[in-house]
Amino acid sequence: MAWVEWIELMERYRRGVGVPANRVRAAFLAADVGGQLVGRASIRFELNDYSAFRGGHIGYHVISAFRRRGYATAILRESVQIARSEGVGAVLLTCDDDNVGSATVIERCGGVLESIALDDDGVNFRRYWI
Ligand SMILES: CC(C)(COP(=O)(O)OP(=O)(O)OC[C@H]1O[C@@H](n2cnc3c(N)ncnc32)[C@H](O)[C@@H]1OP(=O)(O)O)[C@@H](O)C(=O)NCCC(=O)NCCS
Repeated sequence: MAWVEWIELMERYRRGVGVPANRVRAAFLAADVGGQLVGRASIRFELNDYSAFRGGHIGYHVISAFRRRGYATAILRESVQIARSEGVGAVLLTCDDDNVGSATVIERCGGVLESIALDDDGVNFRRYWI
């Protein structure tokens, strides 16, 4: 798919137009610092069976070269505000139990640990709410 087509597809998903049955209305956002792409966020405005258990409302990633500069914390903080502005009340965040970085980011953004659960692949993961 051409980049422009992909951007248009993401914009349709953000508006909830033509969302496939296995997806939900969601925003896909890039994190830019002075014109440099440093990371991304996926913000799901609804939960389906998978995201209500394992995926949560928000996913994020920071490019390796830009880690430990507070960008994930900034991305998550802003993503929570965006989710709220789109009507999400309590925000579900999940991360692998051994992902110390992500767990720290979630806790710095106010995440309250609900439980540690086991997924279908046998991986322990943390469920937090903000
Ligand atoms: C997890 C991830 C998003 C963190 O991004 P980041 O921009 O480095 O995070 P921040 O700079 O905001 O880190 C905040 C704090 O988390 C902790 N932290 C972050 N990465 C860490 C690591 N690898 N090990 C231990 N602690 C870590 C630190 O306490 C850090 O604060 P400090 O640098 O002042 O000590 C990034 O490593 C990443 O993209 N990983 C791969 C994808 C991923 O796991 N996404 C989350 C899925 S749930």
